[in-house]
Amino acid sequence: MIRKGPRTVVVTGASAGVGRASARLFGARGDAVALLARGEKGLEAAAEEVRVAGGRALPVPVDVADARQVEEAARRVEDELGPIDVWVNVAFSTVFAPVSQITPAEFRRITEVTYLGYVYGTKAALERMLPRDRGTVVQAGSALAYRAIPLQAGYCAAKHAVKGFTESLRCELLHDGSGVRVTMVQLPALNTPQFDWVLSRLPRRPQPVPPIYQPEIAARAIVFAADHPGRKEFWVGSMTAATLLANRLAPALIDRYLARTGYRSQQTQEPQRADRPANLWEPVDGGDGRDFGAHGRFDARAHSRSPQAWLSRHRRLAAVTVATGLAGAAWLSRHA
Ligand SMILES: NC(=O)c1ccc[n+]([C@@H]2O[C@H](COP(=O)([O-])OP(=O)(O)OC[C@H]3O[C@@H](n4cnc5c(N)ncnc54)[C@H](OP(=O)(O)O)[C@@H]3O)[C@@H](O)[C@H]2O)c1
Repeated sequence: MIRKGPRTVVVTGASAGVGRASARLFGARGDAVALLARGEKGLEAAAEEVRVAGGRALPVPVDVADARQVEEAARRVEDELGPIDVWVNVAFSTVFAPVSQITPAEFRRITEVTYLGYVYGTKAALERMLPRDRGTVVQAGSALAYRAIPLQAGYCAAKHAVKGFTESLRCELLHDGSGVRVTMVQLPALNTPQFDWVLSRLPRRPQPVPPIYQPEIAARAIVFAADHPGRKEFWVGSMTAATLLANRLAPALIDRYLARTGYRSQQTQEPQRADRPANLWEPVDGGDGRDFGAHGRFDARAHSRSPQAWLSRHRRLAAVTVATGLAGAAWLSRHA
């Protein structure tokens, strides 16, 4: 646990979804939060939420696919808020479609936002943290960083790449005996706006594969990871844990399972709307005056708690409880 008083935290993708919920939670602890994303309406609304929660807020419009913009944003954050203690990479975009229906330019753009955006963010953070020998980078990951699924090839590949990049960097930091830390949080399906604004060529409206969790579950895990960066990674949600373990045991079987279920489970029964926006190249908030917020349209189906995520945050307590339970059961079986 390394938190000592309010910190300066950068969150990319802070105008909506997981990034916005995380920015709010950092704000509630009194941190100074720099919010990076493109959509100015979402950024302003998110910044106001951070202030209302009790933090300081600095909205910075930036496209994370542009290394120069990210570096300039980092410089501005340090000028206006002070030395960066925590950098959280969350911003992403994708295309929901089979590989045959995604153009080369779209694959490039997904990679530039979802993979290189993390690389540029991490490098801007390291530029400042390494000379000070302190600071933490948190990568918002996914179960799909380990186990790819159909209809999201560009995204899954980018998340795998982030995992590889992060493992290399962690080895380098250990080699150098650095005080800078990097950790990754593998998230489950979440109720965020992405399912209504990423580019989709699916015939029906996209949905997160159930069970669905509220983005605040992800935010809690991210804030916890920022406080406990010594851990290599965090798994959030029982489905994340089940998927990663099952994939280790029988990956070919999971291929077949996903081939059978993956198209259906990623779409609702409702047909796609003709006027659906797409945020791959430009932000889509603001144009019609709409702020998408942290939550998507699945509030009625989303869980606000995850016992697995709680256990992951309280591993020692869980281990002591299990050990005590086992010892109690053993004592009872001998004395009953
Ligand atoms: N939702 C899930 O089911 C789920 C599951 C597992 C992991 N995750 C992970 O959680 C993270 C956030 O996902 P989410 O569902 O919260 O997504 P979201 O609701 O679509 O929000 C994405 C955020 O990224 C920003 N963004 C997109 N393109 C950008 C660009 N080029 N430059 C700067 N910012 C950009 C968006 O703002 P602007 O458009 O305003 O720029 C927005 O703030 C991602 O890393 C994702 O892999 C999500």
